[in-house]
Amino acid sequence: MRENPSLDVNRYGPWALIVGGSEGIGAASACLLAAQGFNLILVARKAEPLSALAQELAGAGVEVRTGSVDLSQPDALDRTRALTDDIEVGLLLYIAGANDTRGNFLELDPQVYRSVIAITVIGQAEFTRHYGGLMRERGRGGIILAGSLSNFCGSATVAAYTGAKAFSRVFTEALWAECVEMNIDVLHVVVGYTDTPAMRRLGLDTSSAQSPEDAACEMLAAIGNGPLLLLGGEASLKIATARSQLADRGEVIRTAGTPRRESMPHVSAN
Ligand SMILES: NC(=O)c1ccc[n+]([C@@H]2O[C@H](COP(=O)([O-])OP(=O)(O)OC[C@H]3O[C@@H](n4cnc5c(N)ncnc54)[C@H](OP(=O)(O)O)[C@@H]3O)[C@@H](O)[C@H]2O)c1
Repeated sequence: MRENPSLDVNRYGPWALIVGGSEGIGAASACLLAAQGFNLILVARKAEPLSALAQELAGAGVEVRTGSVDLSQPDALDRTRALTDDIEVGLLLYIAGANDTRGNFLELDPQVYRSVIAITVIGQAEFTRHYGGLMRERGRGGIILAGSLSNFCGSATVAAYTGAKAFSRVFTEALWAECVEMNIDVLHVVVGYTDTPAMRRLGLDTSSAQSPEDAACEMLAAIGNGPLLLLGGEASLKIATARSQLADRGEVIRTAGTPRRESMPHVSAN
């Protein structure tokens, strides 16, 4: 039986910003945080899931603000700041960043890798700099940045994604080391296979995947245990260890990397 995590709203509140907060792990985190008394700002692209979730959360008696923001666009932080400049964000969860388009880097439409880099590299850095900077002034807060098992080695057909996720993990680890003295908890979450709407839209069989609720629960409970949380237990640890092996690196990349998905019906060729 899952035990819901308990986060101190005086330490990490009063507002939590969830970037990618309309579905999956972000939405599950929103429900858990609302139950703890956190007010929420939820941003994502599609307006409908955002407003449906805001309605669902209204019963928890907390304030909820939502904004339709595309993180691949240069105005993403400004649009989010328009929702938050008058309030105190004590907790930043940056969850968005799945990959839905695969292909050899040299053949890809540049828009694909630009978007991946904008969301995961530029986005995580910019949002962390802004909201983390305000937490530093207040002397408290928490930052959780989501990554993937893909971050442990480069894989064919997802070069930008694996590179961006590697940035995310190493960046978060360094940030964690810097923020210890600032009373800001920093955590990088390595997400394993999770049954999210994004994965279902890709047509994947998610019957063996972790639920977003379990992932959110484990993630929030670990906020004070940075720098790294590997979701998915022993199985994820085995994959991460295999992908981190330095000896015979070419073989690791050929065999242990993210499997190709050419045969999948809903994944674009590039
Ligand atoms: N699910 C898995 O099996 C899995 C495995 C490994 C790693 N991960 C990581 O876990 C995180 C969550 O993945 P996910 O499967 O839930 O899919 P996701 O596509 O990252 O979606 C999560 C949330 O982010 C929002 N989002 C996505 N792209 C956005 C954009 N350009 N601008 C603004 N918001 C955006 C989505 O809403 P909208 O679509 O409406 O924008 C949704 O609310 C990602 O960082 C992913 O890399 C997931």
